[in-house]
Amino acid sequence: MNDTVIVTGGAGFIGSNFVLEWISQTGSKVVNLDLLTYAGNHENLLSIEKDPRHVFVKGDIGDRKLIAGLFAEHQPRAILHFAAESHVDRSIEGPEAFVKTNVLGTFALLEEAKAYWNGLTGKDKQDFRFLHVSTDEVYGTLGPDDPAFSETTPYTPNSPYSASKAGSDHLVRAYFHTYGLPVLTTNCSNNYGPYQFPEKLIPLVILNALEGKSLPVYGDGLNVRDWLFVKDHCSAIRTVLEKGKVGETYNVGGSSERKNIEVVHAICDILDEQRPSDKIGSRRSLITYVKDRPGHDRRYAINATKIREELGWQPTQVFEGGIRETVQWYLDNMQWVENVKSGAYQQWIDLNYSERLAK
Ligand code: NAD
Ligand code: DAU
Repeated sequence: MNDTVIVTGGAGFIGSNFVLEWISQTGSKVVNLDLLTYAGNHENLLSIEKDPRHVFVKGDIGDRKLIAGLFAEHQPRAILHFAAESHVDRSIEGPEAFVKTNVLGTFALLEEAKAYWNGLTGKDKQDFRFLHVSTDEVYGTLGPDDPAFSETTPYTPNSPYSASKAGSDHLVRAYFHTYGLPVLTTNCSNNYGPYQFPEKLIPLVILNALEGKSLPVYGDGLNVRDWLFVKDHCSAIRTVLEKGKVGETYNVGGSSERKNIEVVHAICDILDEQRPSDKIGSRRSLITYVKDRPGHDRRYAINATKIREELGWQPTQVFEGGIRETVQWYLDNMQWVENVKSGAYQQWIDLNYSERLAK
């Protein structure tokens, strides 16, 4: 075994941030397995395209023959599993892909990781890790005064997305308890930052506000999310990989609870300052309250005491700095933006918002 790691979903938002940092900060090789669904973008990885430490493989995590071949060929010391269908609204429109990738795909990876790990011996076997990247949405929803989610909060997923992630978390846990596979799970709150696909709230609002389009806010805009800058999530994953206790789960969050309307206001104000437009005027005037997401979780909040006290991780970025950096990244990368706003993206926007806007 060598220092190589396999990353799944490394052409998506968090995965590509992780792979770019891994290549710039370590000397070791990454085998990046990604199906390049609508959410996967090869352009995120252009800067490491010719780097021999980055091996990109287009393929499905559910393809067991392919996975077995990658383990045999690369003899990795770990697999970091990011690949998933990740958008709640899409899971409401079409849940099947979520069950297929998030549950069955994770199952396939676990089976092949187990077979590979069973064939290892000595230190290689002892050091191997399966790190599963999951979400705080598995814990369900909080009332305004409830304590934040801890690692012992019972699972109560409410959307097809969170139910499929909960299913994958349970499988990962079972492979540790039943077979001894050395797993680690992280449950993280909402990420934001460079390379996020503009179906999610923050990049969607940035791009619509830039163009003077309406800014769709679901329901009353008072749902709360606990925002974490993506680079802090990546550093938490590296910390858990190196120092986490096998079989444990770690909650990751930025202690940055914000109401959705506060997030939208922040983006509007930054853009008014950075890109004032007489034609558009105040971007806040573009805010449009639209029909709510069915089953919309009211509040998420993460208690990150365990990872902080046991592993010494903490976020470096506060929301006000992170959101400025994020807006600036989109302003500086308009070609990336133009390329992702393909026909398929437009079809999703039409499907999700035409009915909502009729509220
Ligand atoms: P994303 O949708 O941006 O990227 C997902 C990536 O997985 C894409 O590159 C896609 O092509 C790939 N993929 C999808 N199905 C695949 C398959 N069957 N085989 C191989 N590759 C496949 O997602 P993201 O926001 O980067 O999230 C990454 C992970 O982090 C997910 O597991 C998600 O549940 C978790 N997570 C996300 C957040 C967040 O705020 N975005 C927060 C906590 C946890
Ligand atoms: O909490 C972690 C989760 O965060 C991840 O597991 C998911 O993969 C990720 O997509 C994210 O889920 P959310 O549903 O919280 O993120 P989204 O950006 O879709 O929405 C954030 C909030 O903004 C949510 O309350 C819904 C609301 N919203 C979203 C969109 C797209 C709007 O008001 N308008 C919108 O147009």
